[in-house]
Amino acid sequence: MKVYLRTYGCQMNERDSEHIAADFAGRGWEIADSPDDADAIIVNACSVREQAELKVVGLLGRLVSARLARPRGGLPAIGLIGCMAQNVGAKIVSKFPEIDFVAGSRKTAAVAGIAEEIVRRRLAGRGHPPLPEGMGRRTAKFSDAFVDVSDDPSDFLKIDKHLSAPPSALVSVMQGCQMNCSYCIVPKVRGAQRSRPMADILREIERLAERGTREVTLLGQVVNAYGREFPREGGISNFVRLLRAVNEIGGIERIRFTSPHPSYFSDELIDSYGSLEKLCEYVHLPLQWGSDAILKKMNRPYRAGRFLDIVSRLRKRVPNISVSTDIIVGFPGETEEDFELTRSAFREAGFDMAFIFRYSPRAGTPSAEMPDDVPEEEKRRRNAELLGELEKTSRAYNGSLVGSVQEVLVEGPARRGEGVMMGRTRTHRKALFKAPESLAGSLARVRVLSATTTALEAELA
Ligand code: 5AD
Ligand code: SF4
Repeated sequence: MKVYLRTYGCQMNERDSEHIAADFAGRGWEIADSPDDADAIIVNACSVREQAELKVVGLLGRLVSARLARPRGGLPAIGLIGCMAQNVGAKIVSKFPEIDFVAGSRKTAAVAGIAEEIVRRRLAGRGHPPLPEGMGRRTAKFSDAFVDVSDDPSDFLKIDKHLSAPPSALVSVMQGCQMNCSYCIVPKVRGAQRSRPMADILREIERLAERGTREVTLLGQVVNAYGREFPREGGISNFVRLLRAVNEIGGIERIRFTSPHPSYFSDELIDSYGSLEKLCEYVHLPLQWGSDAILKKMNRPYRAGRFLDIVSRLRKRVPNISVSTDIIVGFPGETEEDFELTRSAFREAGFDMAFIFRYSPRAGTPSAEMPDDVPEEEKRRRNAELLGELEKTSRAYNGSLVGSVQEVLVEGPARRGEGVMMGRTRTHRKALFKAPESLAGSLARVRVLSATTTALEAELA
């Protein structure tokens, strides 16, 4: 049997999908490249912005009509999972009664089992059955779908399977968030923070390293608050203890993490840069906004000055560090002066990369109660202005690398083909260079020949 998985959203969702794919493979399923001949189609969807949800609604519409066009008997089971399923799964099922099941973001470890049961029973001609105890319930009101968005408190502990051990692997270390930023749906859909035991995480990374992984990215919604539920040992935060322990794992050459929160960016974490040799000279640190008044309305408990201080101390420790960020433009009440403050913070921080989002109110979050008073065209203008700033800094940064020799981890063939491979520098710049495919998974040295804002053209040095 074949399963087709489609993932939207952040790396946490990507990681959950990888676990699910590995779970299916363990049950003897193949992973399909297209939905056309799959027995099960699973959409792991994001709820963080309205646009993400709209895209998924479009996809579900296409999947459902394609399914209706298939000959009887060959119908794939369709499941919606993840943050969006948690948020609006029941509503979606009323729109698309053809959906077979909905599993929330705290049911990830159960997804393969639920899908398999539905497909097995369907193939046995037994129609849409009651699922076994604990595997969802039937929503009689709208359709035959099984909707389970209840909380399995141990779900996150089970997310440890990997289909393969890629050169660069994602490892989930914690789930959920209780920072309660006023615009963010994540605390509602992912729940309060839970950290995995350190021993489980280290075992997972050791296994990946044995299978060939060279770089790990530790994942969590507030990753540097990892382990704050556990006692501290030796006065050191559990996140820094985790970094130190991963640094000791043989075969792992590089460590990254995403996304940290400025409020948990401790001195010892800053000191880890330049002293833990595997910790890469790169940090993705969401600023969200550069005006203290707006940060306060966002319920972000730091000031722009504190953020800039972290960045400048990081740059002192590792002068070549690359810093990226997330920014939201058009938050309720954001004035032109607020915007100018963000522009100047943006310039001062010198981001090499940034994800700039237009604010979209999410039902159920505190900011959805505030008037969404920045007009859409103004949001677009502010977004474009920051992109203009970004282009200048990232062009200058990438340009400064031309002529230098950089270490890259060769991840695999580049999309453009023609014997070109893709690798990333320790500072997370994408480099493209001609090399044999056998180099995938190893560290190589490349000379940078030219640069655009997004990539470096290079050759093996
Ligand atoms: N509107 C716009 N952007 C948002 N983000 C989170 N919630 C919203 C929202 N309601 C952005 C933040 C976060 C990133 C993943 O998405 O910048 O860091
Ligand atoms: Fe989307 Fe946020 Fe969930 Fe990630 S955590 S999938 S960005 S809603």
